Amino acid sequence: MSKPRVLVACAVFPQVLQRLREHFEVEAIAEGETWRQDEFTRRLAGREGAFITGTHRIDAAVLASNPQLRIVANMAVGYNNLDVAAMRSAGVVGTNTPDVLTETTADFGFALVMAAARRMLEAEKFLRAGLWKRWRYDMFAGSEVHGSTLGILGMGRIGRGIARRGAYGFGMKVIYHNRHRLDADVEEACGARFVGMQELLAESDHLVLVLPYTSEAHHIIGAAELARMKPTATIVNIGRGGLIDENALVLALEAGRLAAAGLDVFEGEPRVNPALLTLPNVVLTPHIASATVLTRLAMADLAADNLIAFFDGRGALTPVT
Ligand code: DGY
Repeated sequence: MSKPRVLVACAVFPQVLQRLREHFEVEAIAEGETWRQDEFTRRLAGREGAFITGTHRIDAAVLASNPQLRIVANMAVGYNNLDVAAMRSAGVVGTNTPDVLTETTADFGFALVMAAARRMLEAEKFLRAGLWKRWRYDMFAGSEVHGSTLGILGMGRIGRGIARRGAYGFGMKVIYHNRHRLDADVEEACGARFVGMQELLAESDHLVLVLPYTSEAHHIIGAAELARMKPTATIVNIGRGGLIDENALVLALEAGRLAAAGLDVFEGEPRVNPALLTLPNVVLTPHIASATVLTRLAMADLAADNLIAFFDGRGALTPVT
């Protein structure tokens, strides 16, 4: 019997690619290559399965030109690149990679809070530039992390991981806002208290965005929300770029209406708003919150396992459609 045909549209660990080749007839993107959306759509022709990341969209147009497609394994927990409704009506299964990245991503969210609040990158650049001539009491004096108020917008698995780090590792008061309030025992386990959006904005010393990106969450933090925050506050985004109105953020940071930001995700990435690049009080990283070797391997393995289980007839392991 012929093997199912699978398109691997992103770079992946050689051992995972090898495993996929054992089960499928694979066409994989070459090292260093990127496929624009139209090229990706064209390459999908005749493929029943796809292994992708957030770079490519599965939408009505892709589905219409690829009626043979049966499953798309997204190597990411976020799946805003999948049009779930269109996939469901086309009978195409979508999968993501939850759980395996929770703690690693929470570590990174917390690291961005630390780096932004304690001005680590500004200080590092200053040192490398040979500008350090003497110790000064106010040199790169930032804001407290321990004992301060940590706000979390989006209290899924990763949000809860960040909350636990803040509450139990750093003695922080943790408040959160979410579409649904968590059960009392879950709130207690992560040491967090539910508040309304306005209170979250006004009370947080450090606000972390870790909610999924949807059309309702587009620019959930804009000029009005930033204006509600403390001028000494920091904001961190490890969700998706579209959650923050970046132009409003730039204005707030420039005007000193907000102390600092840590951003791992950007609207239109890998392009980065040029104004952000010029600001000293922003820590910028290229969408790497889940990037440890072990976690990225676990994500790739889970995406591969989803394809294998689906075509074995066992059903996808972590479906989202
Ligand atoms: C995720 O898993 O959603 C990360 O943002 C990587 O895309």
